This record gives sequence, structure tokens and C-alpha cells, in this order.
Amino acid sequence: MDRNLALEFVRVTESAAIEAAKWIGLGDKKKADEAAVRAMRDRFNQINFKGRVVIGEGEKDEAPMLYQGEIVGKAQEPVMDLAVDPLECTESVAWGRYNALSVIAAGKKNSLLKAPDTYMEKLAVGKQAAKVIDLEEPMKENLTKIAKKLEKKISELTVMILDRERHQSLIREIRSIGARIRLITDGDVAACIATCLPDSGVDVYAGIGGSTEAVLAAVAMKIMGGEILCRFKPRNDQEAKKIKESGISNLKKIFSSEELAKGKELSFTATGVIDGPLLEGVRFEKDRIVTHSMVIRGVSGTIRYIKTYHHYYQ
Ligand code: FBP
Repeated sequence: MDRNLALEFVRVTESAAIEAAKWIGLGDKKKADEAAVRAMRDRFNQINFKGRVVIGEGEKDEAPMLYQGEIVGKAQEPVMDLAVDPLECTESVAWGRYNALSVIAAGKKNSLLKAPDTYMEKLAVGKQAAKVIDLEEPMKENLTKIAKKLEKKISELTVMILDRERHQSLIREIRSIGARIRLITDGDVAACIATCLPDSGVDVYAGIGGSTEAVLAAVAMKIMGGEILCRFKPRNDQEAKKIKESGISNLKKIFSSEELAKGKELSFTATGVIDGPLLEGVRFEKDRIVTHSMVIRGVSGTIRYIKTYHHYYQ
């Protein structure tokens, strides 16, 4: 992949994040999402590359822009895989809550798992504990091994979890093991990746969230040396059928970051919309808009943080 392309993508996520941020707290998640999608698509089509959306806004008949299969970019080749979420956490923006991002993950053709949009059970940690986690093992085993690798007591671990009814027994279990918990209303892409950042205060992410979000997080986590293990959790027969139709016959299969995001030619680009564990959000100042982004490249492993001052932004 062209080494400058990942940097080009920052303009795309910046633009989507700014448009989404204009909707913070206005109570309309659909409008916030539409604004981000439109901005992302417009910006993609100004870049000299060719990408196929493999994870996007849904099927063509339900999503007019950035649907799975849509080709974006000005060039004729090479065709890259794109997994996009112009606005990860529409609810956070609509209600002005914690944690929202605009995200692009990219890789060579056929490198990203074309995950159907359903749910997955996930367990994610940073580099130090990457090799010891196992979704088949009880949470106690996992937390004990993670604590050992991080040279912490279990009581010093922080596990981030989505605040959902379905996680009540997981929360009780983790409390009884003695680890601390941070509940978030939305945004497990940032929560998973945060486990790879020593200063984030997040040691582990656990729980059930979106399957497409797992692929987005896996791209960044794989490059950073962390691990995300996940297994499909369809809610009904229809979702199970969708997974099988996508070519995944074993519903119990545990996917690692390597299987979600293959090869080295990967990149991850994100801009914060609202402050979260990964990035600060968009700031509107008197004559300028300030954005906070990160760009991670698989080939070099570089992580860049980019703070941009947009003057007279259109
Ligand atoms: P959206 O961007 O679709 O709003 O997703 C936000 C999110 O919190 C994800 O980060 C997470 O994977 C998923 O929703 C969890 O799904 P649900 O809200 O249905 O529990």
C-alpha cells in the first residue's frame, strides 16, 4: 500500500468527524450518521486510489452510500479492501455522551474478513498479555494470566465493558474475581484498541458487541501487537444463516486478529468525534476547528498522532 495513503485517509476521517460533531447532543443519530457518511464518501472520491468497501453502511438496497461492494477513489487500481465506520457510536453523538470516532481500516484485496453485521463475543488485551488469552477458558483463568503478564494484582486490572443488560452476569463474574470494571455506553472499537495503549487505563476489553467493529479494532490491534479473540453470537436463526452464507460454516470458531485482518499491508486511521479512551473529540474554536487523529501502518508499525487546526473549514 502506498505509504502516504494512510495519511491521506486522515483528511477523510477528519472531515467525517467534523460533520458528525456538528450533531452532538441534537438528539438525531440518523442525521449525524448521514453527515459523516456523506463527508467520508466525498473525501474518498477526491483521493487517487481505488478501494472496495467490504465493511460499511450495509447492503446496497438499504444504504445509498458506502455500502458493501461500493468502489471509491479516483484511480483504476489497485483495488484495496476498506472497512469503514464514518461514525462509530451514533448514539454517543446524538445524546452527547462519551466516546465516538470516525474510522477507516484498509488492507490488500481479500485481507479483511467480510464479517456479516451481527454480534461477536470479544476478549481483547494489549501486547504484553496477547499470547495468554483464551476465549474457551473461564474469565478467572484469563484475568489471572493477564494480571501475571502485566505484573499487576487482579484488583489492579481494569476491564472495559459495554453497559448492556446482556453483560449482567459477566459483570457479576468479574466483580467476584476482584477486577475493576469501567462501563461505557458505546464504542467497543476504541475500548478494544485502548488495551494496547499503556496510558489508557484499560487493561482488558470483554463482552459482546458488533462483529464489524471487531474487524476494525483487529486491524489496529494486530499492528500494535495486541490480541482480540472473538466468536460470532448470532441472536436468531436468520443471523446464523447470514453468517453461514458469508462462508463461515463453523459458528463456534474463534477468530484471532490475524484471521480478521490478514497480512502486513494494513492501515488504521481514526479521528475522535467525542472524547473517548483512544482520542479526544472535535473542538470548535472561534476561527478554527481542532481534530485529533491517529494513523497506524502495518508495514512499519508506526503510530502517528495528528492534531490538526482547520482554518475556515468548509
Ligand atoms: P454504532 O456506531 O452502530 O452506533 O455502534 C456503537 C456500538 O456501541 C459499537 O461500538 C458496539 O460494537 C455496538 O454498538 C454494540 O451494539 P449494541 O448497541 O446493539 O449493544
